[in-house]
Amino acid sequence: MSVADLVAICALEEIPNRRAVPFVLARRGENGGVAPYPIFVLRWGRNVRAYENRCPHQETHLDWERGEFLDGSGTRIQCGKHGALFDLGTGQCVEGPCQGESLTPIETVIDADGDICLVDADLVEEDDFDSGQGLE
Ligand code: FES
Repeated sequence: MSVADLVAICALEEIPNRRAVPFVLARRGENGGVAPYPIFVLRWGRNVRAYENRCPHQETHLDWERGEFLDGSGTRIQCGKHGALFDLGTGQCVEGPCQGESLTPIETVIDADGDICLVDADLVEEDDFDSGQGLE
Protein backbone atom coordinates (compact mmCIF):
# COMPACT_ATOMS: atom_id res chain seq x y z
CA MET A 1 0.00 0.00 0.00
CA SER A 2 1.43 3.40 -0.91
CA VAL A 3 1.35 6.42 1.34
CA ALA A 4 -0.91 9.23 0.12
CA ASP A 5 0.76 12.38 -1.13
CA LEU A 6 -0.53 15.30 0.97
CA VAL A 7 -0.24 18.95 -0.05
CA ALA A 8 -1.10 21.52 2.62
CA ILE A 9 -3.30 24.31 1.25
CA CYS A 10 -3.93 26.43 4.33
CA ALA A 11 -4.63 26.15 8.03
CA LEU A 12 -8.17 25.16 8.99
CA GLU A 13 -8.44 28.38 10.98
CA GLU A 14 -7.74 30.48 7.88
CA ILE A 15 -11.17 29.58 6.50
CA PRO A 16 -13.94 31.23 8.52
CA ASN A 17 -16.61 28.85 9.74
CA ARG A 18 -19.42 28.32 7.18
CA ARG A 19 -17.46 30.01 4.44
CA ALA A 20 -15.69 28.96 1.25
CA VAL A 21 -12.32 30.23 0.08
CA PRO A 22 -10.97 29.97 -3.48
CA PHE A 23 -7.44 28.96 -4.44
CA VAL A 24 -5.83 28.82 -7.84
CA LEU A 25 -3.30 26.01 -7.81
CA ALA A 26 -1.39 24.58 -10.74
CA ARG A 27 -1.11 21.16 -12.26
CA ARG A 28 -0.03 19.51 -15.49
CA GLY A 29 -2.48 20.01 -18.35
CA GLU A 30 -3.23 17.41 -21.00
CA ASN A 31 -0.57 18.85 -23.30
CA GLY A 32 2.06 18.60 -20.57
CA GLY A 33 2.10 22.33 -19.84
CA VAL A 34 1.26 23.89 -16.50
CA ALA A 35 -2.42 24.79 -16.23
CA PRO A 36 -4.31 26.72 -13.55
CA TYR A 37 -6.30 24.50 -11.21
CA PRO A 38 -8.99 26.63 -9.55
CA ILE A 39 -10.58 25.06 -6.49
CA PHE A 40 -12.48 26.18 -3.41
CA VAL A 41 -12.52 24.85 0.11
CA LEU A 42 -15.62 24.94 2.34
CA ARG A 43 -15.57 24.70 6.10
CA TRP A 44 -18.16 24.03 8.80
CA GLY A 45 -16.54 23.58 12.17
CA ARG A 46 -13.99 20.84 11.60
CA ASN A 47 -15.71 19.59 8.46
CA VAL A 48 -14.06 20.49 5.18
CA ARG A 49 -15.00 19.90 1.56
CA ALA A 50 -13.05 20.90 -1.54
CA TYR A 51 -14.31 21.07 -5.10
CA GLU A 52 -12.97 22.22 -8.42
CA ASN A 53 -14.19 25.77 -9.05
CA ARG A 54 -15.95 24.81 -12.25
CA CYS A 55 -19.69 24.62 -12.87
CA PRO A 56 -20.77 21.46 -14.72
CA HIS A 57 -23.26 23.56 -16.71
CA GLN A 58 -20.91 25.78 -18.73
CA GLU A 59 -17.51 25.07 -17.20
CA THR A 60 -17.22 28.58 -15.73
CA HIS A 61 -16.06 29.38 -12.21
CA LEU A 62 -18.86 29.34 -9.65
CA ASP A 63 -18.25 32.40 -7.48
CA TRP A 64 -20.52 35.27 -8.45
CA GLU A 65 -18.08 37.60 -6.77
CA ARG A 66 -14.60 36.43 -5.90
CA GLY A 67 -14.85 34.20 -2.84
CA GLU A 68 -18.67 34.20 -2.76
CA PHE A 69 -19.86 30.63 -3.30
CA LEU A 70 -22.91 30.20 -1.09
CA ASP A 71 -26.55 31.13 -1.58
CA GLY A 72 -28.31 33.68 0.60
CA SER A 73 -29.11 31.14 3.31
CA GLY A 74 -25.55 29.78 3.36
CA THR A 75 -26.83 26.22 2.96
CA ARG A 76 -26.08 25.59 -0.72
CA ILE A 77 -23.28 26.31 -3.15
CA GLN A 78 -24.64 28.62 -5.84
CA CYS A 79 -23.25 29.20 -9.31
CA GLY A 80 -23.12 32.90 -10.03
CA LYS A 81 -23.82 32.53 -13.73
CA HIS A 82 -27.24 30.86 -13.93
CA GLY A 83 -27.96 30.16 -10.28
CA ALA A 84 -27.57 26.37 -10.10
CA LEU A 85 -27.64 25.16 -6.49
CA PHE A 86 -25.38 22.38 -5.20
CA ASP A 87 -25.43 20.33 -2.02
CA LEU A 88 -22.61 21.42 0.29
CA GLY A 89 -21.59 17.92 1.32
CA THR A 90 -21.84 16.05 -1.99
CA GLY A 91 -21.53 18.74 -4.68
CA GLN A 92 -24.63 17.31 -6.36
CA CYS A 93 -26.68 19.88 -8.31
CA VAL A 94 -30.11 19.97 -6.67
CA GLU A 95 -31.68 22.82 -8.65
CA GLY A 96 -30.92 24.63 -11.89
CA PRO A 97 -29.73 23.89 -15.41
CA CYS A 98 -27.28 21.13 -14.50
CA GLN A 99 -29.56 19.18 -12.19
CA GLY A 100 -28.30 15.61 -11.82
CA GLU A 101 -24.68 16.61 -12.43
CA SER A 102 -22.10 17.28 -9.74
CA LEU A 103 -19.18 19.46 -8.87
CA THR A 104 -15.86 17.63 -8.99
CA PRO A 105 -14.86 16.75 -5.42
CA ILE A 106 -11.24 16.82 -4.25
CA GLU A 107 -10.18 14.56 -1.41
CA THR A 108 -8.94 16.43 1.65
CA VAL A 109 -7.69 15.62 5.13
CA ILE A 110 -6.78 17.78 8.11
CA ASP A 111 -3.28 16.84 9.20
CA ALA A 112 -1.82 16.77 12.71
CA ASP A 113 -0.79 20.45 12.41
CA GLY A 114 -4.37 21.50 11.64
CA ASP A 115 -3.64 22.16 7.98
CA ILE A 116 -6.10 21.30 5.24
CA CYS A 117 -4.31 19.03 2.78
CA LEU A 118 -5.25 17.79 -0.67
CA VAL A 119 -4.68 14.07 -1.14
CA ASP A 120 -2.79 12.87 -4.22
CA ALA A 121 -3.59 16.10 -6.09
CA ASP A 122 -0.54 15.93 -8.38
CA LEU A 123 0.14 19.68 -8.19
CA VAL A 124 3.08 21.61 -9.60
CA GLU A 125 4.75 24.70 -8.15
CA GLU A 126 3.55 27.81 -9.95
CA ASP A 127 3.52 31.11 -8.10
CA ASP A 128 1.92 33.01 -10.98
CA PHE A 129 -1.52 31.53 -10.28
CA ASP A 130 -1.63 32.48 -6.62
CA SER A 131 -3.33 35.81 -7.25
CA GLY A 132 -6.42 34.21 -8.71
CA GLN A 133 -5.57 34.70 -12.37
CA GLY A 134 -6.94 32.18 -14.79
CA LEU A 135 -10.36 31.97 -13.23
CA GLU A 136 -12.21 32.70 -16.49
S1 FES B 1 -22.68 28.10 -15.67
FE1 FES B 1 -23.28 27.49 -13.66
S2 FES B 1 -25.44 27.39 -13.76
FE2 FES B 1 -24.83 27.94 -15.78
